Amino acid sequence: MLHLNICKAETVEEAARLAADHFQELLCTKPACVLGLATGSTPIPLYRELIAREQAGRIDFSRVRSVNLDEYKGLAPDHPQSYRRFMQENLFDHISIRPENTYVPDGLATDVDAMCSAYERTIEDLGGVDLQLLGLGHDGHIGFNEPGDHFPTRTHETALAEITRQANARFFASEAEVPTAAYTMGVGTVMAARRILMIVTGADKSDILHKAFFGPVTPWVPASILQFHPDVTLICDRAAWDGVKSGYGFLRFFARFLAMLYIMEIYDIFFFDWFLLCRSNFFPHFYPELKGVVGPHMFGYNKKQHIAHFILYIPACAAIAL
Ligand code: F6R
Repeated sequence: MLHLNICKAETVEEAARLAADHFQELLCTKPACVLGLATGSTPIPLYRELIAREQAGRIDFSRVRSVNLDEYKGLAPDHPQSYRRFMQENLFDHISIRPENTYVPDGLATDVDAMCSAYERTIEDLGGVDLQLLGLGHDGHIGFNEPGDHFPTRTHETALAEITRQANARFFASEAEVPTAAYTMGVGTVMAARRILMIVTGADKSDILHKAFFGPVTPWVPASILQFHPDVTLICDRAAWDGVKSGYGFLRFFARFLAMLYIMEIYDIFFFDWFLLCRSNFFPHFYPELKGVVGPHMFGYNKKQHIAHFILYIPACAAIAL
């Protein structure tokens, strides 16, 4: 079950430093570790921090192996928007990692099944991922595992959701140029990592952040599966976290609480009094005051008794709403 370690940072830069601390700790204890890496806007400040730390002699990437989460279908490695190119420009070209130790799915694969199986085998041969870095999509995707009726298990081809293509259009000349499909590690591949480090920054992610970690586990919010991972660290900046606490979270609690109160009251009026009345006919000694009461008088509590019931419900409703 969930072992969620939440680290709250004030700023995006602080979030990057906190995330870099996790990488540094792993690189110091296991210099030949396997890193699962992500692309997108979120990890860029972290990659800058990691580059700076290696240049300052604090960490060493020379023995590290890396596997990336995903790649656009149809984009060559040197395409300006390919994830291979992203990784070269934002990290690999500036650190001592050996090129042959970096793996990104092949966007030009002709035999997709073979490429996906080979990618899984590569991860296995490397000994599995020690630390998997994740960003969070606005629709709850991790890697490119989009919402759907099941959790895809292993590396596969996937169609990109419209919301993802719109969000990623900022990197392309127009939305029409954003590929419609991609290759991605499966949710099972991600879950097999020993440790997961997710970074979430920006107020626009608060809502989905709440759903992912505090809502039900469902393939319609793929990141929610992380609630079942034994070692997840979530690093968020204030903008992302504030929305989770004060806005949606409280409203959700309040709405559930009210709903429970109403349900209990309706149950009380329509069933409890009704049953009491029925029983009064069978056990008249216990309910002498109700004996023979029919019609509108069946909702026969006085005001004080009703208030007493209402007060008794409050802790029960609060417990369920939480
Ligand atoms: C990228 C990836 C995606 C992103 C997600 C968030 O390799 O796997 O899941 O992490 O789309 O993207 P940004 O960080 O651009 O908001």
